[in-house]
Amino acid sequence: MLREPDVLSMLMRRKPAHSLAQPFYTDAGVFQVDMEQIWHREWLFAIPACEIPKAGSYVVYDVGAYSVVIVRGTDGQIRAFHNTCRHRGSVLCKTRKGTNPKLVCPYHQWTYELDGKLLWARDMGPEFDASKHGLKKVHCRTVAGLVYICLADRAPAFEDFAEAAARYLAPHDLENSKVAFESTIIEHGNWKLVWENNRECYHCAGNHPSLCRTFPEDPRFIGATEDGGVSDITVKHEARCEAVGAPSAFLVSERGHWRFVRTPLLGAGESYTMDGKVAVTKPNSNFPFRDAGSLLKYNYPTTWNHFLSDHSIVFRVTPISPMETEVSTKWLVHKDAVEGKDYDLKRLTEVWMATNSEDREVVENNQRGILSPAYEPGPYSAIHEFALIQFTDWYASSLINAITGPAAVAAE
Ligand code: FES
Ligand SMILES: [Fe+2]
Repeated sequence: MLREPDVLSMLMRRKPAHSLAQPFYTDAGVFQVDMEQIWHREWLFAIPACEIPKAGSYVVYDVGAYSVVIVRGTDGQIRAFHNTCRHRGSVLCKTRKGTNPKLVCPYHQWTYELDGKLLWARDMGPEFDASKHGLKKVHCRTVAGLVYICLADRAPAFEDFAEAAARYLAPHDLENSKVAFESTIIEHGNWKLVWENNRECYHCAGNHPSLCRTFPEDPRFIGATEDGGVSDITVKHEARCEAVGAPSAFLVSERGHWRFVRTPLLGAGESYTMDGKVAVTKPNSNFPFRDAGSLLKYNYPTTWNHFLSDHSIVFRVTPISPMETEVSTKWLVHKDAVEGKDYDLKRLTEVWMATNSEDREVVENNQRGILSPAYEPGPYSAIHEFALIQFTDWYASSLINAITGPAAVAAE
């Protein structure tokens, strides 16, 4: 099992524009460093806000050693707390999601308000100070209907992302949406292999027959090229969308950890369906036309998203172990859209259900092949896999900076 100095030295020696050395995908020590220096430091997408619509609705999100409760308060605000009781540490919320007027510990019933204050603790004596035993807070921000958390003491800057997300997502009404369906799968592959696979469509033609009906595999459609250059079709599409007030041009953060771009779908494609037509007739966007393409967002290390004219899909990546990663997918539709009338669940989900399962297989094949002693880092295609060069550069520089630099980029 490798330690932090070993990881640092391997990063310094890595071959640029090549896949990483075997231990980055397999070793328990590297995994621990990834968790501590990336996952426990960065802002992480947790849930769509519409998943906890009412006061007292909560969701539990486990990341590495941490368990976090994300709960909506009586004031409508969403907050996050460590899921550990301030008495003797029991988990507070045992179920993955639910709705409760208060947060009550299952062990001795210490009872917390939805804003984390300790309200009641039986027989603790006259000296006991409830105000010193509120739940421990986790940084939590809601932007454009997406809830982010950060486990670090000092969270990195969030404002640039928040501003861009609010602007790009303005046409998509995630606040007035609901989760029509969710799927959670475990891929037997390192989290970076899940990302590497996501960031290229070099594999799409050979693996994704359903997705390829509407999603363009040409990297120039999404600016996944060295210069962020996009095709003429995309430029025209962006202009058409921007004319109706929908920000669409390729925008990437300085650190490269998030990006927005609105890409057209193939032909007259409107949505990710088998016939290319919308899946939901009551849309959760305000586009005056249906063929608005897909607003593609990624935000390392947890999420990539597709925002279409009729619905949105949010993906969340969570590492479980060096060679296991949870991938959760949620389909968001207008909150008043009625299943069976405004959308058919199979039609809505079938393309990405198939695509996820095809992606799982290629990721698992990749992981198995890397386990061979004969594996050595191979070259990324500069044409199709430029985004992987970008991803591994982001990964390497994030780790190097975290290991060698100050505790956080900036306090919020
Ligand atoms: S551990 Fe929570 S009330 Fe005792
Ligand atoms: Fe794929």
